[in-house]
Order: sequence, then structure tokens, then C-alpha cells
Amino acid sequence: MKGAIFYSGNYGSTEQYANWIGEATGLPVFDIKDTRADPSDYEFLVLGSSILYFKLTIRKWARANLSKLKGRSKLLFSVSGAGPSPKLERWVAASLPSELLSEMEHVALGGRLDHSKISWWLRQILWVGSLFNPDPRARKDERGGFDYVDKSSIEPITKWVRQEHLGTAKYPNNQ
Ligand SMILES: Cc1cc2nc3c(=O)[nH]c(=O)nc-3n(C[C@H](O)[C@H](O)[C@H](O)COP(=O)(O)O)c2cc1C
Repeated sequence: MKGAIFYSGNYGSTEQYANWIGEATGLPVFDIKDTRADPSDYEFLVLGSSILYFKLTIRKWARANLSKLKGRSKLLFSVSGAGPSPKLERWVAASLPSELLSEMEHVALGGRLDHSKISWWLRQILWVGSLFNPDPRARKDERGGFDYVDKSSIEPITKWVRQEHLGTAKYPNNQ
């Protein structure tokens, strides 16, 4: 079966994960900004999205492509500062139509926030946001940045691709 990875991110970590999954599975990787790529050309999809301000950044693209995504086999990976938690699941659920969400598995991956790569304004916004954050770890992360990117965490995703669609024998890098 023919599959592809479509991702949405701003600062590189979602792209990094998408490329790692692409290398491990042989699936083509597309930034959703590349309008030449069409999800309806593929029978199964890995969708990757960063989370900014409690929302999936892929949400508008997902709504615009709803009819192409529905009915196709899919897995969503999110990339964020928050680890897997009910809070994160709520953000994901609020970002996507329930009819789409109910058809997908969700894997939460750890992101990266490098304060030297964001604007002074954004740093101030994050700092002010941290004042109201009840979670001490999230508060510290917002103020100082973090790096939870971990290549080995893609394993459930490569396993899903292998088990569901490709079969181990066809798997190029056998991870
Ligand atoms: C402006 C901004 C807002 C963010 N908002 C959230 C958030 O609401 N929840 C969260 O868990 N992480 C949040 N993060 C952390 C990002 O999810 C994390 O940096 C992620 O790795 C970004 O993905 P990217 O590198 O593909 O853009 C935010 C980061 C930035 C810069």
C-alpha cells in the first residue's frame, strides 16, 4: 500500500521527526505548505503537527482536506512541550473534527524550544504565560526552553507503518 507523511511545524522539530520516520520507513515526506502534494494520492497517512498555543498547527489544513483524509488509514503524531497527558489529549481533540479524530491513533512526541531561535517578543509572551501556568515543569520550560526531542520515540510510529501496511520484508531500514 502507498503511504506518505504530511507534517506542519515552525521551528524544525516536527520536520526532524517527519524526516526520521521517512528515513526509517521509506515513505515520502511533505510539508503541508507544499501544495503539490495531495493526501488523496495515498492509501495511508502519517500526519505530524507541532502544538503552539494549545492547538495543533495542522488543524486548518486538516479541516480544508477533511474529505480527502476521512476514510483513509491514519496516524497522528503531535510535537509539544507537554508530555502525554489528558491535557494534551484535550488540546488535540479541540483542534480536529471528532469524525477525523475517531479514525486516528495519536502518538505524543517531545518537542524543543530554543530561546535563542525565537524573537524577543515571543520570549516575553512565553514568560508572561509562564506566570499563569500552574504546572511547575511547564513553567520552567516556558522560561528557559527545553529539548525533549528523542529519535527513539518514533518507534511506535514506524511499528504502525510496518505492521499495518508494509510488512517487515519490504521495510528498508528495518528499525
Ligand atoms: C509560541 C510558542 C507556543 C507554544 N505553545 C505550546 C503549548 O501551548 N503547549 C505545549 O505543550 N508546547 C508549546 N510550545 C512548544 C512547542 O510545541 C515545541 O517548541 C515544538 O517542538 C515546536 O515544534 P516545531 O519545532 O516543529 O515548530 C510552544 C512553543 C512556542 C514557540
